[in-house]
Formats: sequence, structure tokens, C-alpha cells
Amino acid sequence: MDKTLARLRCAELDGAAPAEHGWHGVGGPEPLRCAEAGCGGEAIEGNTCPRCGGLLEFAEPHGIGRDALVQILRDRSVATSAIDRSGVWRFRELLPHIDEARIVSLDENEIPLQEAPRSAAWSGVERVAVYHCGRNPSGSFKDAGMTVAVSFAAARGSRVALCASTGNTSAAMAAYAARAGMGAFVLAPAGGVSQAKVAQTLAYGAHVLTIEGDFDDALRLARAVGAASREVALVNSVDPYRIEGQKCVAFAMLEQRRWRAPDWVVLPGGNLGNVSALGKGFREALALGLSDRLPRLCVVQASGAAPFARAWESGAELEPVKAQTVASAIRIGNPVSWRKARRELRACDGLALALSDEDILEARRAIGGDGLGCEPASAASLAGVRELRRRGVMRADEDVVCILTGHVLKDSSVVEPIAPEPVANSVDAVLSAMLKEKK
Ligand code: F0G
Repeated sequence: MDKTLARLRCAELDGAAPAEHGWHGVGGPEPLRCAEAGCGGEAIEGNTCPRCGGLLEFAEPHGIGRDALVQILRDRSVATSAIDRSGVWRFRELLPHIDEARIVSLDENEIPLQEAPRSAAWSGVERVAVYHCGRNPSGSFKDAGMTVAVSFAAARGSRVALCASTGNTSAAMAAYAARAGMGAFVLAPAGGVSQAKVAQTLAYGAHVLTIEGDFDDALRLARAVGAASREVALVNSVDPYRIEGQKCVAFAMLEQRRWRAPDWVVLPGGNLGNVSALGKGFREALALGLSDRLPRLCVVQASGAAPFARAWESGAELEPVKAQTVASAIRIGNPVSWRKARRELRACDGLALALSDEDILEARRAIGGDGLGCEPASAASLAGVRELRRRGVMRADEDVVCILTGHVLKDSSVVEPIAPEPVANSVDAVLSAMLKEKK
């Protein structure tokens, strides 16, 4: 088959064989299929199934064996080119095909697993490792997906990238769109985005339009705008290319661990694209023979924005809520990828939790104690570890990885109280203030 053929399938196909399309696009020989269970719908482009309106996804990669892949990755580990280094594009045999010259990369997802001993002690496990996506070029996990979404959008000839965002998607989109020479527009919920993220997005030259309503309203609008114009590429996580990039976090993590899966991977959840992508990545790694088993995934929502955790507990369909939490990044009441997320949790014996803002902020302080730091939403992962221990679901000696999704400087609206009184400009006054603070 021609290398430039691509197909998309509905992500709800659940195991049925995908059909081939003769679509001459920029993708690889993989179709897009509907992700909705039993739908079987397929598409050659776009992000919604023409049959049921569900989300689309790429089929699993095939046609390459474990040994060949491991050898390619070994060769790339000493290569110097940017795409061989990238924690997304060095796995390009497992991604939709694109001409290498068209890849828009900023050295994303090159992230070492780090031990976090104080966080481990706080949460009641012997050891915890963090995978800190705040080390990405725009400071959040969004870069891994955005490099793929923007590369394909630019290659398709889209002139403008668009997203709804609580701030991190917008910063990542703005950075990659700038690099690709594309325009970038953000629909931001009024009052719902940290100032630091808006400033960052503007610094990359994007345009920010404030929308009345919350993130869920902004995403609905962005999807409608994306559907109405062929020039506009919608790069929210409804875009199956985003998910392909984000699944590489699973590959990069496993590669560092010599392809040995951890017992648990714990991460925050909002719109639920990330847990869907990680689940897909771990499943694909297992199917390819790269890893030995699936880790159990635990996705953690803030209790004021936890429609998925509630649906998971009750076994019912998701009921959207008006979201409320100090963790603005995950202030999302109608997560668009919830069915994909449910499928992934079921596949790996995972679970979803809802935890209070207090728990999340306490976890953030514990992470700060390891000199790592993260934005509030990210700390939901460590709070989740403590809760899993409390419930007796996780043993103290299990092998745990927490995904920290965003950099500590991303959201300064939730900070420890700063001493409001100015201190006199004298050595004595400073020493006595220091003593007082220490108590
Ligand atoms: N953590 C952070 C720091 C985030 O920015 C987000 C989502 C999540 C977790 C949740 O990830 O939606 O894939 O479940 N931020 C989006 C944004 C919504 O617009 O930046 P998810």
C-alpha cells in the first residue's frame, strides 16, 4: 500500500477488524474508526464518526515486530537529529505516517522518571516515581499530542489552529502553531484560565478570545467552528492525532524501565483525553510484545468536577455537572472522552477517584517537598496514591508512577499565603522574622 494512505476508525469499534480506505492523505496506512462500542463507523478525516457522532481513533500499529522496533530505538538513542531524540517522533513507526520533513517538533516528551521519596512517604508507599510533563517545551503534557496534531494539520494545509482550553492546551497549540507558521486562536472560558497560561499563550503570538461560559461551553463552540471551516484545524483532544502523540508517554515511560510495566500509573483527569491516550499506548505496547503486562491506571478528578469518577463508581452513564475546583486546569464538567476513558480503565483493571481540593493542595505541598513542584491539577495524581493506599487497593510495596501534568509556574493563583507584613530593612528584623517563620 502507498505509504501516504490513511484511514480513521470510530474508537468504539472494540476489536472488530478495520476496513481499508483508499484515502490519499498525509497519514499512514492506518484507518480512523469510531471509538463507540459496536458502532463500526469509519472516516477518512475529521474527529467525529459520521455514523454515530462518537469520537474517532486510529487502529493499533501493525506490520512491525518487537525486535525490529527495539533495534530502531537503540539506534536512535545515539542519534543526534531532533526527531530521533523527540519522545514522540522516535516512536514514529507506531504513529500515523508523515513525511519527516513536515514534522513540527520542539523536543517534546524527553522526560526522565524521577524518584520522589517525600511524596512516597506522604502517600504511604515505599517508592513513587514521577514523570514530570512540566519539563516539556511549553510546560505541560499537552506538547506530546500537539506536535502530532499540528504537524498533520500543517501538512493538510490548514492555516489556523483552534482550541478551547483551560490554558495548557492553548499554550502548547500556540507554541507549535507558531513553529509551523500557522495562525492560532484560543477560546478561553471567562475567568477560568490562570493568568500565567494566558500570558504564555500570547507570548507565542496566539489570539485569545474569551467566551462567556465554562470550558465545556467553549469546547462545544470550538467543535462547531472547526466543523464549519476547512481552513481551521481543531486541536483539542477530540482530534485523534493528539491522542496518538500523547500515547507516546506510555512508550517513553516503558522504554526507560526496560519495557517493564509499573503496577500503577496515576494521573489527573479533566476532559479525559490523557487517560484515554495512555491506556491506548500501554495496550499497544503489550500487543506489540514490547511490554510484559498492562499497568493499572487510576484517574483522579477533583470532587467538584468529577462526573466521570461518579459514573465509574455507580456504573451509570456520565451525568455532566457544573464544575468547581481550585485546580482550574481540570475544571471540566462534561468530559468529551469519557467513553474512551471507561474502555481503557476496564481493559487494565483501573479505576477513577474523586478527591477534595484540600487533598489535592496537600499533595502539592508534598511534591514541593521533593523539590519537584507542579500546578495544582497535577498533584491530584499523588493525592490519588494516598487514597488508593487508604482504601487498601494499593499495597505499600507496589511500583507506582505518578504523572505530573504541568509545571509549578503554570498556575500561581493557588499559592501558599505569603507573609503580608513588610519586614524592616535591618539585619535584626530579618533574623527575627526568619525565626518566627521557622516556628
Ligand atoms: N492536568 C493539567 C495540568 C491539564 O491542563 C489538564 C487538561 C489535565 C490535567 C486533564 O487532562 O483533559 O486529558 O483529562 N487541560 C486541558 C487544557 C483541558 O485546556 O489545557 P485531560
